Amino acid sequence: MSPIRTERHDDVLVIISDNPPVNALGAAVRQGLVDGIDQAMGDDSIKAVVIRCDGRTFFAGADITEFGKPPQGPGLLEAIDRMEASDKPVVAAIHGTALGGGCEVALACHYRVAVPSAKLGLPEVKLGLIPGAAGTQRLPRVVGAEAALPMVVIGNPISANKAKEIGLVDAIVGEDSLEADAIGFARERIGKPVPRASEGTANKDGVKNPAIFDEFRAKNGRKLRGFDAPEAAIQAVKAAGEMSYEEGVKKERELFTGLMTGTQSAAMRHYFFAERAANKIDDIAKDTPLIDIKKVGVIGAGTMGGGISMNFLSAGIPVTILEMEAEALDRGIGVMRKNYERTAKRGRMTDDQVEQAMGLLTPTLDYADLADCDLVIEAVFEDMDVKKKVFATLDETVKQGAILASNTSYLDIDEIATATQRPEAVLGLHFFSPANVMKLLEVVRGEKTGDSELATVMKLAKRIGKIAAVSGVCPGFIGNRMLSPRQQQANALIMEGANYWEVDEVLLDFGFPMGPFQMSDLAGLDIGWHRDPARIESIRDALCAMDRRGQKTGAGFYDYDEARQRTPSDAAKKVIAEFAEKQGVEQRDIGKEEIKERLLYPMVNEGALILEEGMAQRASDIDVVWINGYGWPLYTGGPMFWADTIGLDTVVAGLEAHRDKLGEDFKLSEMLTSKAAAGEKFN
Ligand code: 3HC
Ligand code: NAI
Repeated sequence: MSPIRTERHDDVLVIISDNPPVNALGAAVRQGLVDGIDQAMGDDSIKAVVIRCDGRTFFAGADITEFGKPPQGPGLLEAIDRMEASDKPVVAAIHGTALGGGCEVALACHYRVAVPSAKLGLPEVKLGLIPGAAGTQRLPRVVGAEAALPMVVIGNPISANKAKEIGLVDAIVGEDSLEADAIGFARERIGKPVPRASEGTANKDGVKNPAIFDEFRAKNGRKLRGFDAPEAAIQAVKAAGEMSYEEGVKKERELFTGLMTGTQSAAMRHYFFAERAANKIDDIAKDTPLIDIKKVGVIGAGTMGGGISMNFLSAGIPVTILEMEAEALDRGIGVMRKNYERTAKRGRMTDDQVEQAMGLLTPTLDYADLADCDLVIEAVFEDMDVKKKVFATLDETVKQGAILASNTSYLDIDEIATATQRPEAVLGLHFFSPANVMKLLEVVRGEKTGDSELATVMKLAKRIGKIAAVSGVCPGFIGNRMLSPRQQQANALIMEGANYWEVDEVLLDFGFPMGPFQMSDLAGLDIGWHRDPARIESIRDALCAMDRRGQKTGAGFYDYDEARQRTPSDAAKKVIAEFAEKQGVEQRDIGKEEIKERLLYPMVNEGALILEEGMAQRASDIDVVWINGYGWPLYTGGPMFWADTIGLDTVVAGLEAHRDKLGEDFKLSEMLTSKAAAGEKFN
């Protein structure tokens, strides 16, 4: 049965798509649209057309699962060009999200009406693509190149009201009367000449002021670094002002095809599905009953406790936060308020919203106030004894049926659970710093963690805007466990003579936002320092002894000027060389290729061990963790997808070549070697 049906409302034909979950524009939908338009054109008694969707959203885009497969049925552009060609007015009636191809359908309609909650956007860049059904040519002709640029190049959707403001939407209609209002709107346009987006002239703003393209590049340079699609998107929007519509569409097609066949888009499409898969737990039934989370408790109002609380407050969920002493409590709450106020100052929150969020927060020093929480998250010092005491107290005070979570970075969740009489209630919720900003949530599944508890936190993660992935119990879980061999190799490399700035550069060039030595300088080299300048047991000790303690002292590995610009330091390099000599490590010149292989291949190996041990459900979950928690560049698809791209045999050969440098504890993954030998991939 076709996902498209039509309904007559006197002289107006309503074409309706019912293709759950998001009305993706697959082959059958495209064919149905063509048939619907043909029906309208062939029937003189039909004077106008409305296109709308059933379910939760207007078309949310092309069907991504069709990408890379042989094309079937009419192309999207062909289908929507017929709408625009019509002399009878065609109105898009938009609710939910009109994204990508969906927005292109709307643009090919002569008019667009939307409910206030609707969003419109061209998110193709997030899949490493640009719009491929004339979106880059029609949108600028309707709203101008300047307004089109952020939509096409950054890809964030805009609200219906914003769309009305820039001229993308013609009318905002009733939230509950979309169809009727759209029919009324269409009827008023019967017999009048139709406006066609392809014939619009707003795009000439980019010709009058061509500087807008370079200004846009300069303003967003950092955000777009390394990605191919945004530059193609800029070129396409620019072309919309310089070329005829037909030539522009040809140009768009060329750029689109180039991206579609490249590795970046393959990687980003992999990520799209990886993120959604990561939220699913294979061995838990879909109908597992969930726990209703109406109130959350947080223990510890430090760096993490405060940030964690903000996630829930921002989502409208009340939080009771507990500390040992009033002073720490006040300090923690002050920091939260300041963070909210800063967000408000930047215009991303209203003052009312700040008060609303803070109004949901209850500070306390008394565990009795946590008794009726549905979820309690512990974020106290990283110390097993302290954590166990907290969990024993929670076991005594919090109601049965509640979830008891720890934010530990490394500690054994199963051991923490032994402090309670209800290990099924215990799991890890590993947030990343700053916890109110970072998207990743590593959910740690203990040996005895209950299905309802686990299913509940996966759902909750979405509610607070986090991307969740499940890890088993192992030191450092997925993320920090894989960070550890990289850090170990970074340290070994500079002892052996590699320039520390080149170690950083290799990771920057690969696409990470920061290298390990920049990171150390930022955090401060004196974290955990024993403060005895005479005792030098590491490079960090040696640097601290010279008062090179990082950015805050103007020098660490690097020298810093007043603007905190860094330059490599000969003094630091000398400190490292002297320390290496004392330790009997011979230094040599080490090239960037070796640096890269020794930093990244052991991570892939660790990822394979994690899979082998069943600590991650799937390779793509590891990709999700590293992209969202540690800045692994999205356009490579994450460590495991990247390894697939370069070939697992290449990784194994590299590990074998460097084996004597990889440390005594290094263990080559059997899964990795056998997959490499069989020519298989992780994903
Ligand atoms: N194609 C195929 N499947 C899609 C899809 C698409 N465009 N969009 C979503 N899905 C699937 C998801 O994979 C998921 O499947 P699952 O249940 O099996 O995991 C299901 O639909 C529901 O998706 P979400 O879990 O993401 O649902 P949300 O309600 O959280 O979000 C959404 C809805 C905002 C529409 C979000 O799914 C989304 O952003 N989708 C992608 C939109 C997009 O990128 N569109 C552009 C596509 S490229 C294009 O149009 C090219 C054109 O220019 C030619
Ligand atoms: P922090 O030192 O900033 O905060 C800890 C807070 O807990 C302090 O305010 C302290 O007064 C309070 N506290 C200590 N014992 C307590 C007790 N028995 N009862 C009530 N309150 C108590 O530490 P931070 O950085 O917030 O870390 C907390 C936890 O989060 C640790 O387990 C850490 O490993 C983990 N974590 C830290 C990350 C980070 O980047 N800082 C990232 C991810 C996890």
